[in-house]
Amino acid sequence: DTERAQLEEILAQHTGVEGPLLPILHDVQAAFGHIPQSVVPVIAAHLNIGRAEVHGVVSFYHDFREAPAGRHVVRICRAEACQAMGANGLADAVLARLGVEWHGTTANGAVTIEPVYCLGLCACGPAAMVDGKVLGRVDEARMAAVLAEVGA
Ligand code: FES
Repeated sequence: DTERAQLEEILAQHTGVEGPLLPILHDVQAAFGHIPQSVVPVIAAHLNIGRAEVHGVVSFYHDFREAPAGRHVVRICRAEACQAMGANGLADAVLARLGVEWHGTTANGAVTIEPVYCLGLCACGPAAMVDGKVLGRVDEARMAAVLAEVGA
């Protein structure tokens, strides 16, 4: 199938490259939007490493998604400067409101909430990113408006 063909192509592109696991996973996520369970054994066999090792890397790095994302991705900054501006409280409120954990997707598939560690907007925290667009000075009311807009 096409998914298998795409995966074979990605693996072929990294043949002979040193430390190929991370670049392969990045390409897989770019191609499929997440790291499907089904690719793990194929990558492991190709690199001659254990499946557990591949799983370990996927779950260690925040960048990799193990399930498809919702239609919109909202990232909330959890780094120090934003924390000092109340980002933790904001994040708690958002997670409670949507009934999800970090990396979770709302039941209607509208929104995935992810943590991010600095968006370069430290002077106007708390910062967030909605579908790649950064927002500063996000309080609960503003976040509620954003979430309503994206159908959460
Ligand atoms: Fe949040 Fe830098 S600490 S944007």
